[in-house]
Amino acid sequence: MEDMWLECIRCRKKFPWNIVIYTCDHCGALLDVKYHFEEPKPERWREKPLSVWRYEDFLPRVREKVSLNEGGTSLHRCKRLAEKLGVENIWVKNEGENPTGSFKDRGMTVGVSLAKELGSRTVACASTGNTSASLAAYAAKAGLKCVVMIPSGKIALGKLAQAIMYGALVLAVEGNFDQALSLVEQSSKRLGLYILNSLNPYRLEGQKTIAFEVIEQLGQPPDAIILPVGNAGNISAIHKGIVEWKQLGLIEQVPRLIGIQAEGAAPIAHAYKKKEKEVVFVENPETVATAIRIGKPVNWEKALRAVYDTNGAAETVTDEQILQAQKLLARTEGIFVEPASAASIAGLVKLLDAGLVDKNERIVCVTTGHGLKDPDTPIRTCEKPIQIKPDLEAIEKIVAQ
Ligand SMILES: Cc1ncc(COP(=O)(O)O)c(C=O)c1O
Ligand SMILES: [Zn+2]
Repeated sequence: MEDMWLECIRCRKKFPWNIVIYTCDHCGALLDVKYHFEEPKPERWREKPLSVWRYEDFLPRVREKVSLNEGGTSLHRCKRLAEKLGVENIWVKNEGENPTGSFKDRGMTVGVSLAKELGSRTVACASTGNTSASLAAYAAKAGLKCVVMIPSGKIALGKLAQAIMYGALVLAVEGNFDQALSLVEQSSKRLGLYILNSLNPYRLEGQKTIAFEVIEQLGQPPDAIILPVGNAGNISAIHKGIVEWKQLGLIEQVPRLIGIQAEGAAPIAHAYKKKEKEVVFVENPETVATAIRIGKPVNWEKALRAVYDTNGAAETVTDEQILQAQKLLARTEGIFVEPASAASIAGLVKLLDAGLVDKNERIVCVTTGHGLKDPDTPIRTCEKPIQIKPDLEAIEKIVAQ
């Protein structure tokens, strides 16, 4: 593909699209996928269903798409939540509606298709849970071997159930996510594993379609997009999609991108607050939102650009705020998301209180993963079922309360 190449985000060194490379051999920074786009013709995709591959004009061309029908998730207008928070317009882009229950599927359909295109036999990732579930599913669909490394005892039950059911080789590392990712990088060199963490630039290509879908579902870009940030791939991907559509003249206004991190794992939010251009990693990240329990986000440089270039922000929320927001969203809108996803709602509440988001802004919160992924949290934090005798009077007493 002559019209596509890889390019270092820092020194701009170019690399052919079809070599397996994740970082620049000159300066060590991450890479972006670049294209010579033709003039966009919306009539080419307008009739196609909302999905990742609806936007194939903006994606790598592959001979075989490894797809489980990802994307096309709902953009829920949240009237009751908006009323509760005293704002005009809130939408939730519910990525839990993807095939394996998280936004990772958007990245994996493109990333695993590329793995096939490049002739890889084994794909691998480190994961706080969702990446492993998603990669395991797409590897199964593609007929590839899959190795996943997870922080032992620190991923939600549903995600582990998915990874083992899809037949991945699951290695529980006695360490945290950052250590698992470092191991994946080292073993990929030795064993020739194709890495599908978000340092893989092709994965982010799939995820940038969140931006395209939101823009088309709303009919225009929102004022702000708020999302949880862990390894910081998703905020970087959404930014890339927005920049591409802006450069192609498909949109005029650029939404502010606002990343939310858990207080115990917030290197990017801390850097933003000090207006730094570099981040200080967190050695021992901790949060109830295990999906974003990451101290050394590989995409920190892309993510800071996303925030600074869009006049966005990065903010922290406490575990308590996350758990409250999870219940609030479930009980006002009927949308059950996992704790990490609720960070976007918790962040919105905090930013509204601080006056950093305006009550009149059109806000989209991205909820990244389904609530059923982590059944232990509601069992711990919600009201227990009330045990009763099979007796009508007992029921009457309780229900009438
Ligand atoms: C549910 C959920 N939300 C958010 C994130 C963070 O995404 P990113 O690592 O792209 O910042 C993850 C990553 O694992 C996740 O699983
Ligand atoms: Zn470079």
